[in-house]
Amino acid sequence: MEFTIKLVSPERLRTGLLVLGAFSGLPLPPASRAVDEASQGRLSRLVSEGELDDKAGSSVLLHGLAGVAAERVLLVSFGKADPSGDKSWRNAFAAIAAALAATAAKEAAITLDETALPPGRDFAWALRQASRIIADGAYRFEPPRAEKKHKKKHGAAKVAFILPDTGETLEEAVRQGQAIAQGMALAKDLGNLGANVCTPSYLADIARGLGKQYKFEVEVLERDDMEKLGMGAFLAVARGARQSPRFIVMHYRGDKPHKGKGGKPKSHPVTLIGKGITFDSGGISLKPGAEMDEMKYDMCGAASVIGVFKAIAAMALPVDVIGIVPATENMPGGNAARPGDVVRSLSGQTIEILNTDAEGRLILCDALTYAERFKPGCVIDIATLTGACIVALGKIPSGLLANDDELADELAQRGMDAGDRVWRLPLWEEYQDLLKSNFADMANIGGRFGGAITAAAFLSRFATAYKWAHLDIAGTAWLSGDAKGSTGRPLPLLAEFLLARAAADKR
Ligand code: BES
Ligand code: MN
Ligand code: ZN
Repeated sequence: MEFTIKLVSPERLRTGLLVLGAFSGLPLPPASRAVDEASQGRLSRLVSEGELDDKAGSSVLLHGLAGVAAERVLLVSFGKADPSGDKSWRNAFAAIAAALAATAAKEAAITLDETALPPGRDFAWALRQASRIIADGAYRFEPPRAEKKHKKKHGAAKVAFILPDTGETLEEAVRQGQAIAQGMALAKDLGNLGANVCTPSYLADIARGLGKQYKFEVEVLERDDMEKLGMGAFLAVARGARQSPRFIVMHYRGDKPHKGKGGKPKSHPVTLIGKGITFDSGGISLKPGAEMDEMKYDMCGAASVIGVFKAIAAMALPVDVIGIVPATENMPGGNAARPGDVVRSLSGQTIEILNTDAEGRLILCDALTYAERFKPGCVIDIATLTGACIVALGKIPSGLLANDDELADELAQRGMDAGDRVWRLPLWEEYQDLLKSNFADMANIGGRFGGAITAAAFLSRFATAYKWAHLDIAGTAWLSGDAKGSTGRPLPLLAEFLLARAAADKR
């Protein structure tokens, strides 16, 4: 998809599809008004006759509007002017994205003006969101099929934003949104691929390929390396798998090295850790059969980390970021770990494995310890960690748990900015008691209650050397049922977080 920014009169623009906005109960915004006047009041009549629903995102499509150069005009409701947030704006753009993905027009143009911006939002924000939502809306997974279907390709390939002349350079915002959508497309593809294709070594190859393309460092550890290091928790999960595990470390250095005391470069990279279970059968604590196919999505944390590396590299963002992906399958078998096994983690702490299906925390704990060597400014792990998180929060926000309030608040704010929300759960000391074991420093499960929290409580014992946040994306990383597929979340949140960090560093 190709995006441009144009400063033209909308009524005179030759395009396949012209998108205009309208608020319920308010006069038409300037661009819509210009087209309304050119068409002898067709739009305002349509609105006054009640043909455009009040609900943000509802729309009316008009063909061959007299006096207007565009072939089609789509009038989209932005709902009632919303003083409280971005919700109706986002609903409107979700509808615009769907219309652009389905239209027979090859080119489209979208008008944007100040009056349509949510409170406190500027054009750069709006263009970054809009280009991401529209490019992401055009994502399709290409399944391998016996015969290539020669379906007619729908959807606008060229999209112009029509803006008032603000004197700002806004191309960068559009490029950023597009880069985020490209990262999301990669993350979605990785999630949607079956576990016979998307294996740990496949993830490593994708990471290496990105490193080559964008010139960042990628190191891949194999089983021997991990044995030498002493990653007993990770290896306990990998033992049952025929697919060999990988421990992938990416380092993107977009910032100029800061000079610390004594002239030594000093950088405290943001470190992202993504759970990369390419298939979670549960292991010896085998899962029930229903919907087990969806456990191919148990590497969506990893996919979001790899995807966000693509996004920040594509936009050449000035930040220092480490990405760590522990990747393995969780399978049953004669060599698999059993309930009751005690293993020693990289940190030295021992773990009694009471349930082999609580495997995510076992691979993440060794990654959290490994991260210490980078002296990170903060560490964020992203994991499809617990069914309990879906029970607690549903599928709207991702779960957020953290050992640092400032980092938690920052992530919550960026989630709002990106329309990719998180909700914080407590991580109080009392929960630690639930992890007691008679046979090791801790057990890997904490009983029936508060499962999303006890999982994070387990991780917190390994995240002691830095500021740390944990995102439980079990409910948000993919959709089930007819709409089954990856969502690409929480990549928008991670990208927004890094963008804001980069902007703060510049100041
Ligand atoms: N990958 C699952 C969590 C999961 C389940 C995510 C369903 C999305 C949908 C994780 O490895 C797991 O199996 N967790 C267990 C933990 C339990 C054994 C303490 C769970 O949530 O049931
Ligand atoms: Mn599991
Ligand atoms: Zn899992």
